[in-house]
Amino acid sequence: MKKVSLTGIKPTGDLHIGNYFGAIKPALELAKEYDARYFIADYHALNTMKDPKELNTTIRQVAAGWLASGLDPDKVIFYRQSSIPEVFELTTMLMSFTAKGLMNRAHAYKAAVQENNEKNDDTDAGINMGLFTYPILMAADIIIFDSDIVPVGKDQVQHIEMAQDIAQVINANYGTQILKIPQAGVQEDSAVIPGLDGRKMSKSYNNVIPLFAPEKALRKTIMRITTNSQTVEEPKNPDECQIFQLYKLFTDENEQTSLASVYRAGGMGWGNAKEELFRVVNRCLSPIRERYDAIMADIPALDKILEQGAEKARPIAAATVKRFRKIAGID
Ligand code: ADP
Ligand code: TRP
Repeated sequence: MKKVSLTGIKPTGDLHIGNYFGAIKPALELAKEYDARYFIADYHALNTMKDPKELNTTIRQVAAGWLASGLDPDKVIFYRQSSIPEVFELTTMLMSFTAKGLMNRAHAYKAAVQENNEKNDDTDAGINMGLFTYPILMAADIIIFDSDIVPVGKDQVQHIEMAQDIAQVINANYGTQILKIPQAGVQEDSAVIPGLDGRKMSKSYNNVIPLFAPEKALRKTIMRITTNSQTVEEPKNPDECQIFQLYKLFTDENEQTSLASVYRAGGMGWGNAKEELFRVVNRCLSPIRERYDAIMADIPALDKILEQGAEKARPIAAATVKRFRKIAGID
């Protein structure tokens, strides 16, 4: 039997090419080796997103983004967290075994408390119980599907360790391996995709190249990449240029070698380099964008895909809850 990998995606905001190369593409690769499950963590998003229209839209945008990027719903299980009520039943069960002190140590909660203290505000100002218990819901997401491996960025490793802790406490209590202990799959060397200003591409820096921008807007965005004041004639170093770094993501070695030699020879201005980047980005993203637009034009069909995914997921989730209830004496 193949091992299970599980990826949770928080539906917050438009996807950008940093998300695509840093998260979506590597996560989709896992489907080759694992029994892969992907879900939209919409109840996790509710902690911070209180505008119903916005949340409703981003859930669909992010789901469409993954499908357009190549997620095959016939080969993997793809669903919305909110469609699996068993996840919330398991969350309640896990609560009974989770020390409050463990939650006090969670990085996200501690950071929020520290911010309040620095502002001389009430310690828990603006902190809801969803944020405080975030790691328990995440543990339930993971444990309910007997997940072996959870690919995450470094910032999420603590959450996986907490899921391990909680599962271990439960296994120890009942003296049996009732729950599988998940492992974090951290990509140590995962590349950081630079944004328009050379810093890490991120929504919070407002320096992103959106994954699904229409062609005109895409070109305009690429033209905004910050460059230095080197003249057209000056030879340029491709290794010190974010235009070239981005170019590498979309091209093969031949194209890279040839643009690098034009850079070094001098005679190519930043404007032309950006045009060349736009050409290859657009070449790669056009088919993805077309698929995305087609999916977003038929939301009922998209919802159907997610519902069919939930139908595949629920029996697995129900079996874990049943197993737990039986051993806990609640059957
Ligand atoms: P943002 O920084 O834009 O808010 P998120 O934190 O929502 O992005 O990131 C979602 C996923 O995309 C994470 O797995 C993260 O590691 C990945 N990611 C985001 N930005 C980049 C980037 N510039 N380079 C590589 N991976 C990225
Ligand atoms: N907390 C994750 C993030 O912010 C999203 C997430 C929720 C998740 N549940 C999960 C990731 C379960 C992996 C497994 O990115």
